Amino acid sequence: MGEPDSSWLKEGRKADMISQTLREARKYEEVFEKMIGEEERPGFHLSARTGWMNDPNGFSFYKGKYHLFYQYHPFDSHWGPMHWGHAASSDLLNWEYLPAALAPDEVYDRNGCFSGSAIPLPDGRHLLMYTGVARERLGNGAVNDIQTQCIAVGDGIDYEKYGKNPVLDEKDLPQGSSRCDFRDPKIWQKEDGSYRCVVGNRPGEGGGQILLFASPDGFQWHLEKVLVSNNNRFGTMWECPDFFLLDGKGVLLTSPTDMLPVGFEYHNGNGTLCLIGDFDQETDSFTEQNHQAIDYGIDFYAPQTVLTPDGRRVMIGWMQNWDTCNMRDQKVAWFGQMSLPRELSIKDGRLIQKPVRELEKLRQGEVAYRDVSIDGTASLEGIQGRMVDMELEIRPEREEEAYHKFAVRFAQNGQYYTSLSFHPRDSILKIDRKFSGSRRAIIHQRRSLVNSKNGKLKLRIILDRFSVEVFVNDGEQALSAILYTDQAADGISFLSDGAVKMDIVKYGLLRG
Ligand code: FRU
Repeated sequence: MGEPDSSWLKEGRKADMISQTLREARKYEEVFEKMIGEEERPGFHLSARTGWMNDPNGFSFYKGKYHLFYQYHPFDSHWGPMHWGHAASSDLLNWEYLPAALAPDEVYDRNGCFSGSAIPLPDGRHLLMYTGVARERLGNGAVNDIQTQCIAVGDGIDYEKYGKNPVLDEKDLPQGSSRCDFRDPKIWQKEDGSYRCVVGNRPGEGGGQILLFASPDGFQWHLEKVLVSNNNRFGTMWECPDFFLLDGKGVLLTSPTDMLPVGFEYHNGNGTLCLIGDFDQETDSFTEQNHQAIDYGIDFYAPQTVLTPDGRRVMIGWMQNWDTCNMRDQKVAWFGQMSLPRELSIKDGRLIQKPVRELEKLRQGEVAYRDVSIDGTASLEGIQGRMVDMELEIRPEREEEAYHKFAVRFAQNGQYYTSLSFHPRDSILKIDRKFSGSRRAIIHQRRSLVNSKNGKLKLRIILDRFSVEVFVNDGEQALSAILYTDQAADGISFLSDGAVKMDIVKYGLLRG
């Protein structure tokens, strides 16, 4: 098969291959990013360069740097025709914006370059695989979004769309499957050098399914099998799948739409799902064993992973929920931020998430207390701030006497606060941002069942200007939420009903 001509990589041809649509986006972001002050952005989470950001895309390591692309509408802080924004970093925390990588400028993607992934090719080029959306008008006036999988190759800055796009379309689908819900390819290379990708799809019945496609070279693709079927268990469409091996297990991550709650595990609306099981590499067969939510907070969706050069599986998610997009800061011209990158592992059949170890390099100014007694309310000298990494361990003051409740409040002043509260009797940890300054009638709290014996609990709380991420018991659970509380509200306080003992270490966080 003929691969794309790579001669454009030589200087001089680049200008010809950049469409007017992409050029306009690049010009716009360059001018308008200057209108957004440094302090109006998160301190160490990646946010939209200008306008709107959703899903992480193309998370990969290429030419010595991490590359992260994202669903992007540069011209407006609301969702619109999807482009791919682009940033690169050597430490996953200090991101440098690069020019927008893809724009909806071809017949097959004229209504959007939807989510997808990236991989370095053996010949040194960077391959992007994404969903092209083309709207079809039906006779009765209705419209259909046709989704196909497409490819672009480039050098880490400029990408050329493949001449034979789309590489997967309705002809490649199992019979009866939807060509309108067929999106978000995640590509990887097998040890034998061949490629696989998983794509979210909807069968005739039964909610979502994840299709597995195979390719000898990353360009020519064919359907291998249905890797996993929803069978009406978790929501309807399964978006943004990712599949990888971790600690001897196969792990499928996906983000189902229209979820119904199941106890404290899954919540209504767009959710996240992790299936852990056995994977037979010979036959590419996955046997499910366990399932769980990925994040138990309010704002986390569409995560994607990368394998780092030192062998860590690192995940990053869109720190947002489609249903809470109305909670926004009206003053700034960006919307949407990524979660912290998180290192993944499997323990006792469950997914463990920890902030990437690179975060520790941003720490400064340690303040630590041991065996602090809290009975009622307390605040501690030096424990405050809005860019904070804080670890605390709590236990009952007297082993035989259980306490009823413990809470930590942050982003707090006389008017506002967000709280994390723990009820040892039922082992429920609740995040509540009702008093964070939001004026919208949307979800502001979520409860999660956590592991706690005899009232002991370990929390790592990471605050950035516009978010909180909580890691429970060394990463057994993560809870993320965005906050737009006035930055002057930088208090942190503790509250207990019953006597509690606490050890705490707190650092400020500052980007290098
Ligand atoms: C998930 C999603 C994807 C799609 C993209 C469009 O958040 O709906 O399925 O590719 O967003 O922006």
